[in-house]
Amino acid sequence: MTATTASSSSSCSLQGSSRIGSRTNIHSDLLNPKSISFSSNLKGLSLKSSASKRQLYSRGKGSVVIAQSMDRVEVDSSLSPRVNSVKPSKTVAITDQATALVQAGVPVIRLAAGEPDFDTPAPIAEAGKNAIREGHTRYTPNAGTMELRSAICHKLKEENGLSYTPDQILVSNGAKQSIVQAVLAVCSPGDEVLIPAPYWVSYPEMARMADATPVILPTSISEDFLVDPKLLESKLTEKSRLLILCSPSNPTGSVYPRKLLEEIAEIVARHPRLLVISDEIYEHIIYAPATHTSFASLPGMWDRTLTVNGFSKAFAMTGWRLGYIAGPKHFVSACNKIQSQFTSGASSISQKAAVAALGLGYAGGEAVAIMVKAFRERRDFLVMSFGEIDGVKISEPRGAFYLFIDLSSYYGVEVDGFGTVNDSESLCRYFLDKAQVALVPGDAFGDDTCIRISYAASLSTLQAAVERIKKALVTLKPPVPV
Ligand SMILES: Cc1ncc(COP(=O)(O)O)c(C=O)c1O
Repeated sequence: MTATTASSSSSCSLQGSSRIGSRTNIHSDLLNPKSISFSSNLKGLSLKSSASKRQLYSRGKGSVVIAQSMDRVEVDSSLSPRVNSVKPSKTVAITDQATALVQAGVPVIRLAAGEPDFDTPAPIAEAGKNAIREGHTRYTPNAGTMELRSAICHKLKEENGLSYTPDQILVSNGAKQSIVQAVLAVCSPGDEVLIPAPYWVSYPEMARMADATPVILPTSISEDFLVDPKLLESKLTEKSRLLILCSPSNPTGSVYPRKLLEEIAEIVARHPRLLVISDEIYEHIIYAPATHTSFASLPGMWDRTLTVNGFSKAFAMTGWRLGYIAGPKHFVSACNKIQSQFTSGASSISQKAAVAALGLGYAGGEAVAIMVKAFRERRDFLVMSFGEIDGVKISEPRGAFYLFIDLSSYYGVEVDGFGTVNDSESLCRYFLDKAQVALVPGDAFGDDTCIRISYAASLSTLQAAVERIKKALVTLKPPVPV
């Protein structure tokens, strides 16, 4: 047998954390593909040595491992502690699980993904096609094309009352990249990152990746999941470096009113080390009378704020991978430097499409207004439908396309052939199993009493989902009145 090893381009998925940090015998693992699976083609990656013994250096342990023979090559499969400190995204895991079930023929209704169900508006898609035809297919400047950054400056001025110059804008491969780079750029090991919960799944993990400590600020459904400024103030220490705000919020749909943001800004102003990442990616998906306020527009906050936005949600451009950050040049340049060694500039084609998106008019013009109208109808339908069910607590979302409902009064029930439903995770497994509806457990967002329903699905799909969920809830014990 030819001994093989995986190249850097191959990917390896580990099943079970016990493997992490241990050495793996490729011979036995190829015979037992359940324990470790390599998705790349291993053929042709043969070890060249003709010697029967081979030295492999074991990273992390500092020891030298001697492979006994050509067909028993031991590979050190230990991973960086960074990997162990980061949790995988539950939204991605559940979406993948639901997709696998659908592919296996199970009629699962998927309401787990954070992705608009609409196509990218035609003028944007057309601009992308033209970009290819016209040869805009090369690297762009790392920070993004001047054309796009100028258009972003114009948008921020017109829609958000924020003045930036193009060198204060960095375009990235999605807002996710913008955020993680900002966290990496400003946090030192041991710094604290304040995150109101429920939070977008990635914020705490991004803090951990920067060797910073997430400090979670719980909120309550009765307060519309908005952070209490007094709680924020009480959690501030000399290590506090970042506060991450998300409005409209994923997962709750809450929108921070201007007055509350002003109170938060007063607290931030008193702590010179504290910066704010204001994630405004759902800015346009907002339901009047709610209005959006950019945190950087508040008195004294321009210097303190890194404003993140992107094209994925409002313009239904998730696959185009385009987001951006705007802020003081010092911080944006630092993010730019990190990006220059991570990925370089974002896709030239997507950047051309993004210019077209910003050209659709104020807040995305008619194309975005049509989608927001549909989201609003769906929100109204879900709020009404779940409002009729005993034991369900709701805070009406004012933006984004998620409903975050408290179903904890259904916990503690033993279900025949299933087990106990005692937390958001088991409840979501129960819904997937018994109702074939995929939802995301609230514990992924830091609130185990709730589950998240994404209403980026047609009204008829939502109607079918509600029917199934209602039936599944009836099978649970009668809920305790709240
Ligand atoms: C709150 C929030 N911020 C940022 C992102 C990242 O968006 P993208 O990387 O697609 O631009 C998401 C996507 O789900 C999100 O929900």
